[in-house]
Amino acid sequence: MKINKNFLDLEASYLFSTVNKKTREFIASHPSADVIKLSIGDVTKPICPVVIDAMHKAVDEMADAKTFRGYPPEQGYDFVREKILEWDYTKRGIDMKLDEIFLSDGAKSDCGNIGDIFATDNTVAICDPVYPVYIDTNIMNGRKNNIIIMPCSAETGFLPEIPSDDAPVADIIYLCFPNNPTGAVAPKSYLKKWVDYANAHHSVILFDSAYEAFVTEPDVPKSIYEIEGAKTCAIELRSFSKTAGFTGLRCGYTVVPHELVFDGTELNALWMRRQSTKFNGVSYITQCGAAAIYSEEGQKQIQENLSFYRENARLIFEGVTAAGFKAFGGKNSPYVWLQIPEGYTSWSFFDELLEKCQVVGTPGSGFGQKGEGYLRLTGFGSRERTIEAIERIKASFGR
Ligand code: MLT
Repeated sequence: MKINKNFLDLEASYLFSTVNKKTREFIASHPSADVIKLSIGDVTKPICPVVIDAMHKAVDEMADAKTFRGYPPEQGYDFVREKILEWDYTKRGIDMKLDEIFLSDGAKSDCGNIGDIFATDNTVAICDPVYPVYIDTNIMNGRKNNIIIMPCSAETGFLPEIPSDDAPVADIIYLCFPNNPTGAVAPKSYLKKWVDYANAHHSVILFDSAYEAFVTEPDVPKSIYEIEGAKTCAIELRSFSKTAGFTGLRCGYTVVPHELVFDGTELNALWMRRQSTKFNGVSYITQCGAAAIYSEEGQKQIQENLSFYRENARLIFEGVTAAGFKAFGGKNSPYVWLQIPEGYTSWSFFDELLEKCQVVGTPGSGFGQKGEGYLRLTGFGSRERTIEAIERIKASFGR
C-alpha cells in the first residue's frame, strides 16, 4: 500500500486547527486568562425560532411510522430547493432550474469535492490571501504544480487581476465575494470581466458566495448569476452557516447550470454522478430547518442575527481604526482585515495579541504569503465580548 503523497505537500495542520491548538496551549499555561476568540468565523447566536420549530416538528415526524423518512433524495427534497429557487434566485430576477440546485452539508465540503469532476491537469487560479480549502484540496488532488497564484493587495482593493492574454490560461478560477479573509467585495463591472474571461477561454469560475447574506449595498452582487453570461461559465457555492447560523447543523448548496458544457458533457450530470456516489444527503430534520428560513418571518429572524454580526464587524473596524490601525472589510462582510504594526509578522502579532489582550485573531499569513502583515478578526462574537476585545486592543496598542 502507498499513501497519497500529495498530502505530504500540505502544511502539517489546517490553519484553524493550528490556531485552536495554540489557543488551547495558551489557556493551559495561563489558566486564569480570560480569552476572547475572534478567530474562526463561527457563529455564536442560537438558531432562530422558526428553524427550531421546524426541526422540532421534523423530529416528531421521524418518530411516527406514518411520517418517518429514510434516505433523502440525492439533490435534497424539492420542498427546500423550491424555496431556494424562489427566494435566492427567482425573487432576485435570476432564472435557475430546480435540478440545477444540489443541497449539501455545507460550502466547505462542496468547495473541496467539486475538484473531483475536473481533470488533474487543469490550471487552477487561486487568490492570495485565500480561504485555505481551495489550495489544500487542489494539492490533495495532485494539482500542486498547476496552481496559478493571484496576488491580492490593498492597492487593488484585494481584487485579483484578470490574467492578461499572454499569461497561462486559468482553466478553473476560484473567486469568493464578499471575500474571506479580506472582507473585500467585488462590483458587478469587475465580475463581468471575469465572466467574459472565462467564457472566452472556456474556463470555469467556482464562485463561493458563502457571505452573500452580509451584503447590504445594492450594487454589490450576491450571486454570480447577476452577471450576464455567468451561466455558461460559473458554478455557485452557498452556505446556510453564516446566513442562518448553521455551522453546527451543516447545510449548504451548489448551483450547477445546465449551460455548463465541457468536452461535450454537462457539469451538472458529472456533479450529480459524484454526489449520488459519495454523498447520502442532508438529514430531513436539517432540511426542514433550512426551508424554514424562506418565509417572511424566517427572513426577519435571520436578518436580526445578521444585523447583529454586521454591527460587531462595524464596531471592530471603528475600534481598531481609532486605535491607529489600518483596517479593511467590516462592511458587507463579517471580517475585518487588520494591517499589523511594523516589526511584527502575522504570527508574532497573533502571539502578542494573545499575550497582551488575550484576544485570538487569525494570522493573515495562514491565508497565503500575501496575507503576511495582516490579521483577521471576526464579527461573530457576542456584543459584550467584542466590545471588551476592542477595549483591550485600544488599551494595549492604541496610538
Ligand atoms: C473561517 O473562519 O474562515 C470560516 O469559518 C471557515 C469556514 O467557513 O469553513
